Amino acid sequence: MFGLFGKKSSAVLGVDVSSSSVKLLELSKQGGRIKVESYAVEPLPANAVVEKNITDVEAVGEVLKRVASKSRTGVKQVAVAVSGSAVITKLIQMDGGLNEFEMEDQIALEADQYIPYPLDEVAIDFEVQGPSENNPDQVDVLLAACRKENVDIREDALEIASLSAKIVDVEAYSLERAYSLIEPQLDSQGEELVVAIVDVGATMTTLSVLANGKTAYTREQIFGGKQLTEEIQRRYGLSLEEAGLAKKQGGLPDDYESEVLMPFREAVVQQVARALQFFFGASQYNAVDYVVLAGGTASIQGLTEMVEEKTGTPTLVANPFADMAVGSRVNASALSNDAPSLMIACGLAMRSFD
Ligand SMILES: Nc1ncnc2c1ncn2[C@@H]1O[C@H](COP(=O)(O)OP(=O)(O)OP(=O)(O)O)[C@@H](O)[C@H]1O
Ligand SMILES: [Mg+2]
Repeated sequence: MFGLFGKKSSAVLGVDVSSSSVKLLELSKQGGRIKVESYAVEPLPANAVVEKNITDVEAVGEVLKRVASKSRTGVKQVAVAVSGSAVITKLIQMDGGLNEFEMEDQIALEADQYIPYPLDEVAIDFEVQGPSENNPDQVDVLLAACRKENVDIREDALEIASLSAKIVDVEAYSLERAYSLIEPQLDSQGEELVVAIVDVGATMTTLSVLANGKTAYTREQIFGGKQLTEEIQRRYGLSLEEAGLAKKQGGLPDDYESEVLMPFREAVVQQVARALQFFFGASQYNAVDYVVLAGGTASIQGLTEMVEEKTGTPTLVANPFADMAVGSRVNASALSNDAPSLMIACGLAMRSFD
């Protein structure tokens, strides 16, 4: 049975293959404090990854090579993630007396009851969650399955870079793990928190609502910072690379702020507000305690205040590294600039602590 969750015993690199870049992060833990051992990001060529699917395995492999060498890590074992829409999860109950191997056998026999795909096309894994609420002799087991091709293509890309997939995780679980680093930064007043994490990336915006640290809702929309990059290209006649750099480093004409950036900020705020409205409409909630902005686009100045005002909800930018030590191999200012876009990489790298 292939490890979708994976069982592990030593250090792994968290590697997030997203649509605009490959992000690599290595964490260690000493005396309860987490330390960033290595970190690098490398841009991907256009269309190598489309809406979270790897479409050009060679190109992704080459970028993986570059990102590993740039980070100067010695670790070869990797944790990667498959994304929400590619994964089916199901909570089942099993006899609590079974050992892991017996469970594996039984799941292999019964999996066709739970999974609507031919079994030779899916990768399956399971994780015991704990005793069942209704029957103390049983345990709740979370089954996760995704199409094998999603796993295989990640393994193939890693292989090009002489890396190996030790763990294939699910993005939503990686995000939960990274959120455990954000939650202590929030004022809960002793209550269970309901927190909306809005990840505005290059092409996708994902709303994840976590109630008491567990994912209660997720929804993806096609919207992201690429729209701003393209507008900069179009208006100022720049290449994709030039526009991407100008976004981060400035140096654009005077009318950029009022004519381009402000309308884009407003569009982001609209997206966040609308995503929350969808969530309220689809759930028993009518408010969240916090909005946490993540993804590279969250770094745009002034966005937090605008989201806070529009949603009437305290808003902050995700920084999973707030309490971490930073090793000598790591460019600390680059890490701090990129922090909001490293939630998934961080949650994956935390698999070293299992
Ligand atoms: N300081 C910054 N100011 C404005 N935009 C930024 C900044 N830093 C990064 N970005 C933008 O953030 C986007 C990349 O974010 P991120 O790395 O979260 O995307 P991604 O995960 O690759 O994309 P997706 O989630 O859509 O697959 C790019 O559009 C980039 O231009
Ligand atoms: Mg992303």
